[in-house]
Amino acid sequence: MWDNLPLFPAQASTLASRTDALLFFLLAVTSFFTVLIFLMILFFAIKYRRSRHPKAVPIEGNNALELIWSFIPLMIALVIFVWGASVYFSYASVPKDSLQIYGVAKQWMWKFQHADGQREINQLHVPVGRNVAVTLISQDVIHSFFVPAFRVKMDVLPNRYRTTWFNATRTGTYHLFCAEYCGTSHSGMIGEVVVMEPGDYERWLTQNGEGSLASSGEKLFRHYGCISCHRADTGQRGPDLAGLYGKQVFLSDGRSLIADENYIRESIVDPKAKIVAGFQAIMPTFQGQVTEDEMTELVAYIKSLKRMPLNVNPDADIPSPEMRRRNPEVQPAPGEPIKVPNR
Ligand code: CUA
Repeated sequence: MWDNLPLFPAQASTLASRTDALLFFLLAVTSFFTVLIFLMILFFAIKYRRSRHPKAVPIEGNNALELIWSFIPLMIALVIFVWGASVYFSYASVPKDSLQIYGVAKQWMWKFQHADGQREINQLHVPVGRNVAVTLISQDVIHSFFVPAFRVKMDVLPNRYRTTWFNATRTGTYHLFCAEYCGTSHSGMIGEVVVMEPGDYERWLTQNGEGSLASSGEKLFRHYGCISCHRADTGQRGPDLAGLYGKQVFLSDGRSLIADENYIRESIVDPKAKIVAGFQAIMPTFQGQVTEDEMTELVAYIKSLKRMPLNVNPDADIPSPEMRRRNPEVQPAPGEPIKVPNR
């Protein structure tokens, strides 16, 4: 419909036609009343001109008229409210079955990571006809992820994961913009979203694989020494992370929360912010050591950890003091400072 009119973006997601329908309804309502008001001004100016009505006659009120002009606009406003809320809620609630993609925005580029480990810069490949969730974080200032053809726009903030989603309805290549002024090269912070047939997307994935996000995260988990405390068999110096994601966590100050991506991230950069009940605040911060890309991989790894059924005595796995003495690097004793390997 809009192919020959580049002023208006293509409709390439399930949300696009709904957003546009609401926009055109608002345009129609406002145009109708603008035209109506101007026509009535013209009409009354002629009808009640001074040569015909030299003396003004005040009107003392008209209940019927006042009810009508209150009730009709109220109904119109309610229609706009319900319609707008329904479009907004479909946009704001990410479907559970979505394909999960992670991204990092920074001055001045977009980096995306697929679950199987594919990485790309200023390009985002997605399959057509599938719900796709994009979880984004900024490494510096506020950016904004804007794909006009999908009618999707979301601010990308530092220190916080946010997720948007879309379901592309047409294959093709669509603009990706940064829609928040973010410094000198803000206007160059552009890219493209490539919507592919599912088969082509699968082929693209296999051609570009580099090992899954979770497996990269597992390497980092060892590299940064997380593993020396966060295992069921290391004397419980840090909480066991298996099965953590999506579960309720009780904190030492009596609060509780559901472990989501932002909680995991915060616990890495600011471990003292939320101490799990029963544990000491001994974990050092990894702020400034872990890049946002690495953080994505760590979070993906921790999300992937499933709780294993324990069919052995858990105490049997706690290393003896003798083992710790011989190999303090791997198994530091409780209360000892945690060694963080240099990168
Ligand atoms: Cu990033 Cu503007």
